[in-house]
Amino acid sequence: MSLKLSVVIPTFNELDNLDEIVKRLDLTLSQVKWEVIFVDDDSPDGTATKAKSISLLDSRVRCIKRVGRRGLSSACVEGILSSSAPYVAVMDADLQHDEGILPEMLRELEHENYDLVVGTRYMEGGGVGDWDESRKSSSKIATVISQKILGVTLNDPMSGFFMMKRDSFDLCVYRLSNMGFKILLDIFVSSPKKLTFKEVPFHFRQRYAGESKLDQKVIWDYFLLLIDKTIGQYIPTKLISFACIGAMGVGIHLLVLGFVLKILEQPFTWAQTTAVVLAMVFNFNLNNILTYRDQKLVGFSFWIGLVKFMLACSVGALANVGVASVIYKDYGYWIVSGVAGVLVGVVWNYVATSLIVWPKKTNK
Ligand code: GDD
Ligand code: MN
Repeated sequence: MSLKLSVVIPTFNELDNLDEIVKRLDLTLSQVKWEVIFVDDDSPDGTATKAKSISLLDSRVRCIKRVGRRGLSSACVEGILSSSAPYVAVMDADLQHDEGILPEMLRELEHENYDLVVGTRYMEGGGVGDWDESRKSSSKIATVISQKILGVTLNDPMSGFFMMKRDSFDLCVYRLSNMGFKILLDIFVSSPKKLTFKEVPFHFRQRYAGESKLDQKVIWDYFLLLIDKTIGQYIPTKLISFACIGAMGVGIHLLVLGFVLKILEQPFTWAQTTAVVLAMVFNFNLNNILTYRDQKLVGFSFWIGLVKFMLACSVGALANVGVASVIYKDYGYWIVSGVAGVLVGVVWNYVATSLIVWPKKTNK
């Protein structure tokens, strides 16, 4: 019997779920030849070591350990690319996804010839269990936005549980954004041909062991994915993220300036200097957490990064003022001159910091 299905499971600190998920896959997939590929981002709890020790005894189990990387979507993509089975499934390690529907998903793909089958929480027969109201409503809002802005017709585009034909995946892999958590949505909107799909309901269960990695930052990831899939072909998404944070930095700058000037009653130069420094620290931090989340600087590198960031942005400020002054002198429109200066400054800051503060790294 040749290999039919690869189940790709991204993992980060899922040590205590591995045995159980392999056991359950074994039970539910007894009729087909399958394998499971754990893609682990060097979890501190030793998930990769555990997965590899299971694979020594069970050749259906494989593990890709990535070093110096983070990201659910990119982990799934690498897992899928590493497999050769004609069908691939993606699911979580924590047993929140009901592995019991895998055979039905496979049947639909094989016999009904769909490109994709999605495990859906939002239809008759599915559900999200006892999520709190805020998680329920944010998931709903993200779903509606995807449906309206990206024109996705899935009931549950945020689902992380699906199975698809390898050939259909191979067609869209070149266009994937690979950002954040929303791998299904990314695949769906990146496909050059309209994917035919079927939705199978399931109940999102409680986590078996460990903790969720989904935090507030995924909202920014989601925003970036939307940007990437709409205007991303014209402007780099990271530049947009950088510019939005820059705009917030202007707000911080004005707040600090007003505070030091009016409340603390300090001289203007002092107030402006404080505002510049704090706005830079704010911008550096937010970019480190959001824009460059996948290459976040920590520890000593954080402080070195901050100094480099401030130096690069100081040059950006000079360029900004220089360009604005030249245009103002020649044409006299203050708004046009100001905006031109800001644009030059932002682009400079983005390019310079992406090269010296957050350079694309080869693995540590
Ligand atoms: N390799 C890798 N790298 N795996 C990761 C990373 C990462 O940076 N972050 C999370 N994972 C793995 C987890 O170990 C888990 O197996 C799976 O991805 C999902 O992460 P959870 O932390 O369990 O996410 P969740 O349950 O809160 O979110 C789920 O529901 C969302 C919809 O509301 C996931 O299924 C999401 O994909 C889904 O969008
Ligand atoms: Mn989970």
